[in-house]
Amino acid sequence: MRLNAYLAHAGVASRRAADGLIARGMVRVNGRTVTALGTRVQPGDRVDVSGTPVASATESVYLVLHKPVGVMTTLRDPQGRRTIVDLLPRGPRVVPVGRLDFDTSGILLLTNDGALTHRLLHPRFGVEKTYRATIAGRLTGDDVHALGAGVDLGAVHASEAKVRVVAVRRDHSIVDLTVHEGRNRQVRRMFEALGHPVLALTRLRFGPVALGDLPVGATRALHPRELAALRRVREDAPSDQRSE
Ligand code: URA
Repeated sequence: MRLNAYLAHAGVASRRAADGLIARGMVRVNGRTVTALGTRVQPGDRVDVSGTPVASATESVYLVLHKPVGVMTTLRDPQGRRTIVDLLPRGPRVVPVGRLDFDTSGILLLTNDGALTHRLLHPRFGVEKTYRATIAGRLTGDDVHALGAGVDLGAVHASEAKVRVVAVRRDHSIVDLTVHEGRNRQVRRMFEALGHPVLALTRLRFGPVALGDLPVGATRALHPRELAALRRVREDAPSDQRSE
C-alpha cells in the first residue's frame, strides 16, 4: 500500500495532506525518515508521524462509546443530525455493533472486525444486553412477572427478560432489564405493552462489557480481557430467535 494511502486510511490526513507530511520529512517508516512520495509500506511496517506511532488501517480496532441521547447510531445522517462519527477519535474506520435509538444513551461497541460484529449481532448467539429504563407509573409484581415471561409486541413476542427493580416511586419506576434479542425499539415496546411508556433509557451492558463510569460522549479502547470475553460468546440462545 502507498504510504499516503496508509496514512489516509489510518485517519491521519487526506492522501494529499499526507503527501505534504511526507515531503516535509515528518513521516518515518521503521525508524527511517522517508520523503519520497510514492513510498510503499508492507504489513508489519512501523509508521510514525512526528514521533507518534500510527496504527495500521488493517489492524483491528475495538472501541466502547458512551453514546449520548440525541445522536444517531449511523455514520452519516441525510438530515444532518449529530452522528456517532462526531464523537470518535481519529483512526481506522469502525462501524457500530448494532444500534441504539436516537433517544437512548449508553454503551455502544465499535469495531472494524466484521467477523466479530456478525457473531455478536447474530440472534443465534443471543448476546445479553442490560438496559436501565425509567418508566412512567409504578411497576407492579404482575409487570415483573410479565417481563420475565416474555411480552407480546403484537406481531412478535419478545422472549423472557431478566428484571431487576431499582426503584418504584409514586409516578415513575426505574428498572434494569436484560434481554437477549435485538428487536427494533424492543425495550420501549415491552414497557409500552405493559402501559409504562419509557421516559429515559440507557444501555448499561453489552454482553460481558459494562458501561461503567465512562463519561457521556467519551470513548475508550476495549480491554483485551473484554475482547477475549466477547470472543468466547457462545451459541447458547434458543435457535428460533429472530431479529427484525
Ligand atoms: N431497546 C430500545 O427500545 N431502544 C434501544 O435503543 C435499544 C433497545
